[in-house]
Amino acid sequence: MFQQLIEMLRKDPKRIVFTEGTDPRILEAASRLLAGTFLKPILIGNPDEVQKAAEDAGYNIRGAEIVDPANNAYMDEMVELFCELRKSKGMTPEEARRTLLQGNYFGTMMVKMGKADALLGGATYSTADTVRPALQIIKTKPGHTIVSSCFILVRPSATGENEVLAMGDCAINIKPTAEELSEIAVEVAECGRIFGIDPKVAFLSYSTLGSGKGEDVEKMRRAMELTRDRAPGLPVDGELQFDAAVSPRVAQTKCKDSPVAGHANTFIFPDINAGNIGYKIAQRLGKFDAYGPILLGLNAPINDLSRGCNALEVYSMAIITAALA
Ligand SMILES: CC(C)(COP(=O)(O)OP(=O)(O)OC[C@H]1O[C@@H](n2cnc3c(N)ncnc32)[C@H](O)[C@@H]1OP(=O)(O)O)[C@@H](O)C(=O)NCCC(=O)NCCS
Repeated sequence: MFQQLIEMLRKDPKRIVFTEGTDPRILEAASRLLAGTFLKPILIGNPDEVQKAAEDAGYNIRGAEIVDPANNAYMDEMVELFCELRKSKGMTPEEARRTLLQGNYFGTMMVKMGKADALLGGATYSTADTVRPALQIIKTKPGHTIVSSCFILVRPSATGENEVLAMGDCAINIKPTAEELSEIAVEVAECGRIFGIDPKVAFLSYSTLGSGKGEDVEKMRRAMELTRDRAPGLPVDGELQFDAAVSPRVAQTKCKDSPVAGHANTFIFPDINAGNIGYKIAQRLGKFDAYGPILLGLNAPINDLSRGCNALEVYSMAIITAALA
């Protein structure tokens, strides 16, 4: 999967901005990316501090662009554009300048201004602090009402083929409506296709096709119906319990005519609680590698790292993020 993405990037290397230029995990990933020559890392931070952090940690970052929010040629232009973008919120030039000294806002504006193709942050910023500037500055793609996210889960199977699944929204929308879930489902299925998944979408619940009752059961059923209308060719079903979604034997008993049950590979959760817990169970107990959250529905590729990430995860997410550009 990664080899294909790397070959794609090699033909057209993208510029990816890292908002935390002095973090040793970012520096290790950047040095590896520089050696690979298929991506151009841009590190945000004071150049002396970034160089010193790289030297202290023993990573060669020669060739990386280092951009300092406190000292650069385009701050005035950036302040003006930021004020324009946030004028409905009453943003003043002083407030804009202060806000743009933060790497998360500065990096997002670099993407907005076309000075970088993609952004990866969150090694030290929380998800909310990485995502909020993107929501405010980059905004949703035309035709979309929300930004959401998916995780791609990968596990080598006994046959030697990778098992690849998509799950959403495990990271952004706290309590999505049925309409939002249907938008999320189409986006997650499309993202899964990039990673070789032929999507079969299950709307997950504690109930299978009416076996249980409740507000959330209704919501998942409605979301499934809306998705059928929105994407008629996409195999979807729900509401489904997880066992009915993945086990052919259980599917045979509970919903044998379902186009999806027993073979689902794209999972839509009712809310962030279920989604976030669900993907982590797959990762920690199911031995899947989890890549994400990959943000969906944004006007430019911006992604968030987990604060517990390691350098390999930064490297992998950088490739995924740049490939989406
Ligand atoms: C994503 C998140 C940070 C946004 O929260 P927030 O900053 O408080 O959101 P606000 O309601 O103040 O909105 C800020 C801006 O983002 C926009 N926005 C918020 N959620 C959005 C969404 N899902 N899609 C698109 N735009 C959104 C708002 O419209 C607003 O835009 P504006 O300032 O131009 O009017 C919040 O939903 C969140 O914390 N989600 C959970 C994150 C998390 O903890 N994940 C678990 C770990 S992976």
